[in-house]
Amino acid sequence: MKILFLADVVGKSGRAALSKYLPLLKQEYQIDFVIVNGENSAHGKGITMRIYNAFKTYGVDCITLGNHAFSKREILDHLDECADLAYPNNHPLTPAHQGIRTYGFDGVKLHVVNVLGKSFMSPEPVVSPFELMDQFLSTISSEDMVFVDFHGETTAEKRAFFECYKQNCIAVVGTHTHVQTADEMVDEGCAFISDAGMVGPYQSVLGREIKQCIIMMKENVSLRYRVSEAEAMVCGVVITTDDTTHRAIAIERIQIRPGESL
Ligand SMILES: [Fe+2]
Ligand SMILES: [Fe+2]
Repeated sequence: MKILFLADVVGKSGRAALSKYLPLLKQEYQIDFVIVNGENSAHGKGITMRIYNAFKTYGVDCITLGNHAFSKREILDHLDECADLAYPNNHPLTPAHQGIRTYGFDGVKLHVVNVLGKSFMSPEPVVSPFELMDQFLSTISSEDMVFVDFHGETTAEKRAFFECYKQNCIAVVGTHTHVQTADEMVDEGCAFISDAGMVGPYQSVLGREIKQCIIMMKENVSLRYRVSEAEAMVCGVVITTDDTTHRAIAIERIQIRPGESL
């Protein structure tokens, strides 16, 4: 089985890149299941019903989120309609015991889990990702496949989480920094990368308009978030699982910059 994970889709150019490249990636890698992080898809912060529905028409199977999960509050009124939205279980606004999405593949369950890290994160998660994971694992079969989008700031926290749960998961994929790391590996049947990167404006500061970021940092002022309109890069990973053991056997990084082809 091949799972394509694409990292944080940022703004309009990120959404355009997703609609353009997703069909090509699915065909090129013979993808069975697509997970996309959409926490920055609506003007850089949050997601809306319109964007959720658009992602579904592009061919996304499950959408994960992050610290900006509910920046567009309208989505909170529509959570019942978003069966494929995996939102962070330990986000302060997440309804109790919701957010994890489960799918079936040839009699085996795949759980998509989205958690917030604690280190340098705002808003603060209500429970630690470790506590949440311990609780969740006690409710499922050890045969089930668990895919985790760990949304956090620090590489150390993500690596520690992977080391703690690699025997229970098929993948621990980091998101949030928008910068793809080169530390991908498979160990004990679990794929890992500290951060998968972003599907967002290449000429930007993590997706944000460059000039605005310079003013903010140089003059120490706070400005309203403005997403860069530059053409997007596409970052993510393809994870392969063994069809018999249902464990990960490979992880491949994807990074397509503007002007590059697959
Ligand atoms: Fe993000
Ligand atoms: Fe984030």
